[in-house]
Amino acid sequence: MGTPVTIRHDGEIAIVEIDNPPVNAVGQAVRQGLWDAVATLDADPQIEAVLLTCAGRTFIAGADIREFDGGALEPWLPEVVERIHAARKPWTAVLFGTVLGGGLETALGCHYRIAHPDTKLGLPEVSLGLVPGAGGTQRVPRISGAAAAVKLVTTGAPICTEEAERMGLIDRIVTDLPADALHFARDTAAKPVPRLDPGPAQTDLTSEDWEELREDVTRKARGQISPVRGFDTVRKAFETDLAEGMKLERQAFMDLKASAQSQALRHAFFAERAVAKPAALDGVTPREVASLAIIGGGLMGSGIATAALTSGLPVTVVEQSEEAAAGARDRIAGNLASAVKRGKMTEDQRDATLARLTTATGYEAVAEADMVIEAVFEDTDVKRAVFDALATHARGDAILATNTSYIDPTSFTGAVPNPDRIMGLHFFSPAHIMRLVEVVRTPDTAAEVLAAGFALAKRMRKVAVLSGICDGFIGNRILGAYGRMAGYLLEDGASPAQIDGAMKAFGMPMGPFEMFDMAGLQIGYSNRKREAATRPADQRYSRIPDLIVEDGALGQKTGRGYYAYDDGSRVARPSPETDAIIACEREARGIAPRSFSDEEIVAMLHAVQVNEAAAILEEGIAERPLDIDVVKMMGYGYPRWRGGPMQEADARGTDTVLATMRGIAEADPGSWTVSPLLARLGADGTPFSTLDK
Ligand code: 3HC
Repeated sequence: MGTPVTIRHDGEIAIVEIDNPPVNAVGQAVRQGLWDAVATLDADPQIEAVLLTCAGRTFIAGADIREFDGGALEPWLPEVVERIHAARKPWTAVLFGTVLGGGLETALGCHYRIAHPDTKLGLPEVSLGLVPGAGGTQRVPRISGAAAAVKLVTTGAPICTEEAERMGLIDRIVTDLPADALHFARDTAAKPVPRLDPGPAQTDLTSEDWEELREDVTRKARGQISPVRGFDTVRKAFETDLAEGMKLERQAFMDLKASAQSQALRHAFFAERAVAKPAALDGVTPREVASLAIIGGGLMGSGIATAALTSGLPVTVVEQSEEAAAGARDRIAGNLASAVKRGKMTEDQRDATLARLTTATGYEAVAEADMVIEAVFEDTDVKRAVFDALATHARGDAILATNTSYIDPTSFTGAVPNPDRIMGLHFFSPAHIMRLVEVVRTPDTAAEVLAAGFALAKRMRKVAVLSGICDGFIGNRILGAYGRMAGYLLEDGASPAQIDGAMKAFGMPMGPFEMFDMAGLQIGYSNRKREAATRPADQRYSRIPDLIVEDGALGQKTGRGYYAYDDGSRVARPSPETDAIIACEREARGIAPRSFSDEEIVAMLHAVQVNEAAAILEEGIAERPLDIDVVKMMGYGYPRWRGGPMQEADARGTDTVLATMRGIAEADPGSWTVSPLLARLGADGTPFSTLDK
């Protein structure tokens, strides 16, 4: 294999080009190539200035993350960056695409930076559980000051060229490449090579300001350590010289690289990309979808329509009445208006997006659509009526998708000819914001139809995960086990506030009971009634959730559920009425309340999810453990820095999880079956990740 770094000449200018597809990550070979290039060009009397650029779609998008699991290979990136900065000739980085992490740091080692207007720049290491490790925490403060450095390092959010120019990170925005770059380089040749001041960076911030900023970063990090360590490392730039700051940065980078959080976040990064490539779709070409119809313009239908319209598709929303159709249009317009407000689109883009929307009241309107998504009420009969109508009104080759979140699609799509075009597309609410879509395959679904579901999700910038059929599919089925365990813990003596508090300390955005109250308790109530006929007779059934609903408490919207809420407030406070129901029911069942530690609560709620997930894997509902991790992280708020429940199981040890699960099953015989897969892996602590290959 040739070197990924080549040098060519344009008169007295050398052009150093990195060609390391797909994103020109700086792996060992690139680092070696750059190391050698500096020496070659320093020694070349013909050369007066250097341009550093990349082949393909982007300038360097970061260090090669795949190398992070092993030991650091020489030459290290910080040394390469230093060496470029110490070069005798001026180096100019020519930026385009996504200049991220080690890519931006390499550019900052260069003496000048010019960028195409569409370039995005950032230090996203924090989202991999890291701090920038090649000078980012030390050079940015010296170039851009404290506020800019803290923002870049602790949020990881990319910035545009205008902002980068304001921060002093780029010297010029250029449109005509490579001509402008050559011109720029020729100008630099005549000037002395600029060097970064190696003294401490300067700031007006007082130590109180720093403390306040740190508190803010810590609060937003919600248990993740890298933002706080990044903050502390940036602060060092204002207290020490560059050489000392670089040493501290290296230490922070190495410490974090070895941390469980960074391993989990790297797992999350690769898992989010791997879910797009299930074995079932290997080599399959998706069926083309150029137009979409959506049946039902309620909250869900409007959200899906918003996402589809924003992705550039023309969309027809079918409702039952003119009034409902107008309501759907209003909701979609409202979603787009808030996108404008958040700076996600301009007003012109909003108008163009809305112009692609048609609303209608009859099924005739779906006649031309390549794909129809049903997004009506979650009820088998209601959904069957829709599919009966689609059987006659939709094109014979149109893809028909149902946005069911629990119900088996085959139970209501019987009237449709060619069932190979039917699939489930389970969007999460609000569908224009939440990025997860479960693509549900029936026994008949054609592979190119599933692939079309994946392509649609990608187009909408969502992440699709393949799921087979079971009650609740991957995510809601696991949620069912989680909710059931939370209910048992409650009945056995823990309070809603303790359980929620423990799960929030674990990193969940909210605990199970706050979540139930927010979603409304009615849905769970109906589900339990639906499941009553099939529930195993010896399974423990906690009546507390039903008793609360039957007492008229349906969650936040009624001002009371597991907690009480003041009028219009979302702030939960204990509800004496609900607490009385819980106490009464414990007494009626002869349960002497026992105390649980927060660790026990977390371990038990984790174990039942892993146990259910293991069953899902055994049944072939999910292909790989990583699919489950992505569902839980993207759809249910599972902390990314824990990498999902399966990654967490590997971190805790599958043997430990198995022991917890066995304890739970023994305490409530008939209520839980220990998954044979968990039993097999847990027997010798084999990690779930061994099944990801
Ligand atoms: N290292 C290794 N592989 C990488 C990579 C990296 N830094 N960045 C992307 N890739 C791989 C992806 O895994 C994917 O591989 P696959 O095709 O086998 O699945 C392929 O490149 C394409 O990536 P995407 O599918 O994500 O392509 P997009 O066009 O959607 O996005 C991107 C491109 C914005 C560059 C996105 O990939 C990204 O955000 N990458 C990570 C950037 C990053 O975090 N950089 C910092 C790395 S850590 C670092 O630099 C440490 C330093 O401070 C020392």
